[in-house]
Amino acid sequence: MKIGTPNSPTATKALLLGSGELGKEVAISLQRYGVEVIAVDRYGHAPAMQVAHRSHVIDMTDPVAVKAVIAAEKPDFIVPELEAIATDALAEIEAEGGVNIVPNARAIQLTMNREGIRQLAAEQLGLPTSKYAFAETFEQLRAAVDAGIGYPCFIKPTMSSSGKGQTMVKSPEQLQAAWDYAKAAGRADTGKVIVEAKIEFDFEITLLTVRALDTEGRIATYFCQPIGHRQENGDYRESWQPQSMSGNAIALSQQIAGKVTEALGGLGLFGVELFVKADRVWFSEVSPRPHDTGMVTMVSQRQSEFDLHARAILGLPVNTELDKTGASAVILGGIDAEAVVYQGLRRALAVADSEIRLFGKPEAFVSRRMGVALATADNVADARAKAVEAASLISISAAS
Ligand SMILES: Nc1ncnc2c1ncn2[C@@H]1O[C@H](COP(=O)(O)OP(=O)(O)OP(=O)(O)O)[C@@H](O)[C@H]1O
Ligand SMILES: [Mg+2]
Repeated sequence: MKIGTPNSPTATKALLLGSGELGKEVAISLQRYGVEVIAVDRYGHAPAMQVAHRSHVIDMTDPVAVKAVIAAEKPDFIVPELEAIATDALAEIEAEGGVNIVPNARAIQLTMNREGIRQLAAEQLGLPTSKYAFAETFEQLRAAVDAGIGYPCFIKPTMSSSGKGQTMVKSPEQLQAAWDYAKAAGRADTGKVIVEAKIEFDFEITLLTVRALDTEGRIATYFCQPIGHRQENGDYRESWQPQSMSGNAIALSQQIAGKVTEALGGLGLFGVELFVKADRVWFSEVSPRPHDTGMVTMVSQRQSEFDLHARAILGLPVNTELDKTGASAVILGGIDAEAVVYQGLRRALAVADSEIRLFGKPEAFVSRRMGVALATADNVADARAKAVEAASLISISAAS
């Protein structure tokens, strides 16, 4: 693979669709290999825009706007960072040729919709998942729950992320409110919701899985050590690596992740979300890109999930080895305000073996992720304690 010179006619160009904190790290990793990075998002001064060569603010769900920015920039790689994009436009652009959509347009389309990925994982590949059904009306939803999904169950919009529109329902009288919320909060109203039986797992993991070229130039699959995480309201609060688990569970997890990523295809890093109970493993969902819980790899691996994604995309060799036991703890906005002020960095970074990343988002919301604390230690409990402590020492306030 040849790499040109940024800002010249020979440049190797990557266009990021979505410019959040994950995109920011992907941009930095790509730039370290001399790639020219163009960041795109729906708002200005987004995290990745702050480190990119150029940026554009467009409505990424508008196919005309997406095609126009791609036509103007003529990137070699299109790297989607989020799910809310005009995926039909990507499919058309891929069919025209000349640009590499990461990992490929079909994978982006399948994973943006819970229906697409469930059909692939459960029905085509036969992977174990929670019992599930799709409903277009409240009556269909109730019938599906009564017919065997039962309580407790999760009601989710078919297109949503970060827990938006999602409710855990424990009894029949909560079903209507959950239906209304899922219908109102979904990203694009597909007219459908998914209902899933609750899996009583011991813990959940993200298995970062990389499809990259080996020394012979063949596509090979590489796994990182499992990342454990704790979710609140459908959004992650803490993650750690490695999550200890039985040999059988790890083998099964790798088998599931290998199958689903192979079916999605292409080159890049995937975040495979799995539920684990003793030796049993269930597939939950997959991101065809770095995963938020994988931010821990910025301190725990020699090559972070962002480095791995960049290397895989460029056809370069990868190393998924764990370097140190690590943990991450998110720093939430806590307030709704623009141009907030961060304090406590001195004290937070005085926590041994800690790191802080502030994303520089122009506007804070109460539960918007504004930064992350990272730490390493000899064991997971200590790493988690350090990351949580460092995160707690950062305070966010409105400009006075
Ligand atoms: N069927 C289930 N059984 C048990 N727990 C579940 C189930 N579905 C969801 N959860 C819990 O809710 C969390 C969020 O669910 P899910 O990953 O489907 O939502 P999401 O909106 O895609 O979130 P994100 O974008 O943060 O991954 C899961 O990580 C898990 O903790
Ligand atoms: Mg999830």
